[in-house]
Amino acid sequence: MAIIELIDIHKSFGSKHVLRGVSLQVEKGENHVVVGRSGEGKSVLLKQVIGLMKPDSGDVIVGGYHLNKDPKALQWVRRKVAMVFQMAALFDSLTVYENVAFYWLENKQKTRGELDRLVPEILELVDLPNTEHLYPAELSGGMRKRVGLARALACDPEILLYDEPTTGLDPVTSEVINELMVRASHARNVTSVVITHDMRSAYTVGHRISMLYEGNIIFTGTPKDVQNSRDPVVNQFVNGLAEGPMTQIEDEEVQRTSKSLEKIRLKGRLSEEDVESA
Ligand SMILES: Nc1ncnc2c1ncn2[C@@H]1O[C@H](COP(=O)(O)OP(=O)(O)OP(=O)(O)O)[C@@H](O)[C@H]1O
Ligand SMILES: [Mg+2]
Repeated sequence: MAIIELIDIHKSFGSKHVLRGVSLQVEKGENHVVVGRSGEGKSVLLKQVIGLMKPDSGDVIVGGYHLNKDPKALQWVRRKVAMVFQMAALFDSLTVYENVAFYWLENKQKTRGELDRLVPEILELVDLPNTEHLYPAELSGGMRKRVGLARALACDPEILLYDEPTTGLDPVTSEVINELMVRASHARNVTSVVITHDMRSAYTVGHRISMLYEGNIIFTGTPKDVQNSRDPVVNQFVNGLAEGPMTQIEDEEVQRTSKSLEKIRLKGRLSEEDVESA
């Protein structure tokens, strides 16, 4: 059963048509990874799922609720969907404890006693025991990301959305985060959508991987399907090749520009010669 369904989503900014009919289904309980080059619209896509950004057209159905149509949808999303942001986005003036417990401290639906049990348990899950009293400034980048993950998990979500969880981390710390994501999805029984351009992370975490290219999902499959794919775009991306269809257009553009520059240069020289001969 699909817990997230995007149907024919279009989204433009001015003349820039970023999402051009994206359709994507995320099954309940799976870790679905979305890969794509920088600027393809991955973050824009993720924002559609939590209603942070509205599509120009198309439908978003989350947890069975029709976002933008059903008034109950946003309520459900606020309660059941948590997002781990690209830069962890912790509150610098709050301790790790207060950051992790933030949601519950705000809406007062859990007692202090319950939180005193919950927070250490979640911090244990992300391998950060006994850090409750620390402030974000006292943490490394990798630790901050783990606190960000702990804060999202503490909300007891059904869906976790991750935007670039390993960007900016060294390969070892990235691997730790990858394992935590897998562990979190098992332990808390959540569905995850992970945005990344880190193929290693995609293979470790993803049950299925989708690729966003030129405003569309051009491929969805298991890590094995991705590795066996003969699609030239998928191939170029996952193998990090400089040459291929993804860079062909750019090459053609560069050639066109240098040809026009050459023409201007020749014209310039021509007119100089014209002047001399006159
Ligand atoms: N609020 C906005 N207003 C105008 N343009 C936007 C806005 N948000 C995104 N864009 C544009 O949409 C395009 C896709 O942006 P997006 O952030 O989704 O890319 P991305 O695939 O997440 O890239 P990265 O891998 O670098 O994070 C970019 O060209 C960006 O400039
Ligand atoms: Mg992004």
